[in-house]
Amino acid sequence: MNNSNSAEGGISGERKILDPCTIAIFGASGDLTARKLIPALYHLFKEKLMPASFRVVGFARREKNDESWRTELRTALDQFSRTKPVDDVVWTAFAANLFYCQGDLTDAAAYQKMEVLLTSFGSKPLRENLLFYLAISPSQFGEVVEQVHNAKLLNREGPGWQRVVVEKPFGRDLASAHQLNRELTRYAHEQQVFRIDHYLGKETVQNILMFRFSNSIFERLWNRESVDHVQITVSEKLGVGERGGYYEESGALRDMVQNHMLQVLSLIAMEPPVSLEAEAVRDEKVKLLKSIRHLTPTDVAKQIVRGQYFAGAVDGQPRPGYRQETKVNPSSNVETFAALKLFIDNWRWSGVPFYLRTGKNLPMSASEVRIQFRPTPNVLFAAKCGDGLQPNALTLRLQPNEGISLRFNGKVPGMSLGVRPVRMHFSYDSEFGAYTPEAYERLLLEAIAGDATLFIRRDEVETAWQIVDSIRAGWDGKPLTNREFYSAGTWGPIAADDLLAQLGHAWHEPLVVK
Ligand code: BG6
Repeated sequence: MNNSNSAEGGISGERKILDPCTIAIFGASGDLTARKLIPALYHLFKEKLMPASFRVVGFARREKNDESWRTELRTALDQFSRTKPVDDVVWTAFAANLFYCQGDLTDAAAYQKMEVLLTSFGSKPLRENLLFYLAISPSQFGEVVEQVHNAKLLNREGPGWQRVVVEKPFGRDLASAHQLNRELTRYAHEQQVFRIDHYLGKETVQNILMFRFSNSIFERLWNRESVDHVQITVSEKLGVGERGGYYEESGALRDMVQNHMLQVLSLIAMEPPVSLEAEAVRDEKVKLLKSIRHLTPTDVAKQIVRGQYFAGAVDGQPRPGYRQETKVNPSSNVETFAALKLFIDNWRWSGVPFYLRTGKNLPMSASEVRIQFRPTPNVLFAAKCGDGLQPNALTLRLQPNEGISLRFNGKVPGMSLGVRPVRMHFSYDSEFGAYTPEAYERLLLEAIAGDATLFIRRDEVETAWQIVDSIRAGWDGKPLTNREFYSAGTWGPIAADDLLAQLGHAWHEPLVVK
């Protein structure tokens, strides 16, 4: 049996030869399959990164056959592929591995049919090495896991390996996350469960650890002695659009903070892991999340700001208010913006504020982490140059224009003592060319390889929910006040600026580097 994870791949970059396997996608008629999963698998195939032998089986309720499913996916690929046009020769070879299995998720006979299909591939590894991708609602996870187990497709002890890949939302609070995790691990070990956070598949997010732990000059400054504060911004120009129904249940805190933002925070702030193995990295991330200072409802009132957009304009285009969006309650109190001031109570970060903000309908779509270093003592140039002299800042630009920028002070040429902040920029594109694989390509490859480093462990999910639950408890039953609204196309409510001003700080607009 080899249901354990491989120590290779992940962020260490070493590759092992991939076992032949079958990827079974539940929810094969859905958006995720057409937009993300099939384009990712096609590109992995094109780059010759897929196992030498593999099959993809789509499972869904609609009547289709292999041919009609392939045709439908090809049309979607033409639209969503990151490389265009789609290569016909590569597609034809890839599509020969796609099969459709029609059935209802609750019907045991459908899983038997899938078993027969897998056996018909005529190869033990294609029948036994199985990646179940649950592109379905979390409320159906328990049912599918039980059914595949009953059909003898999912076992704890092999033969072969089986893995279950799931997407967020992993619950809506700690209690429901517990329940979901119990259902997922009823018939599988935790090591067989791969929880996706697509931020961890982004090149630049993976680069955080590489940057921190492969350069000697920055890590020694990465602590309370040198860092004044840290800002993490994930801003989006888009409103909630067609996703009003989902968003009403989630809001910015559940949609972005519980997962993507706390993941980025833990990579930025965690201690060095003892190795690059999945468990070592994930142990450190959990440790970091556990050291975030608990928030009482009184702290929430002081340290957390929520906001909701009203009608405005982004890039000159009019946008409706959140309460006017489709499938949104016209008196909804759901937050479309959140700003947090968090403290990490450990030796390294004691007293350093970490500011996080995210929101919809903001002026820019950009994600970045800014490490703001302490100012120099107020003597010499600092004493003479006043505001011209700015503290050093290191910006990790996660998207777009992925790269890293360092700000320092330079003398303005001339006879006077003029000073001005200047920047050094590193950009992925100019350094390495424009090869940017989609997050799903990396994540699917890691799941096939059995490397869980870039996936979220059960205790990580649950610890993140504890943080989010404590914030929600502070908001509970309190409708939004006037101060908590912002016009679409602005940087959130004024209260978000006040949050930083308490300690003499201010938000920085994400850097745009051409
Ligand atoms: C998703 C959220 O997880 O992440 C969306 O549900 C959000 O609301 C998206 O728009 C942002 O991802 P990215 O990769 O565009 O930054």
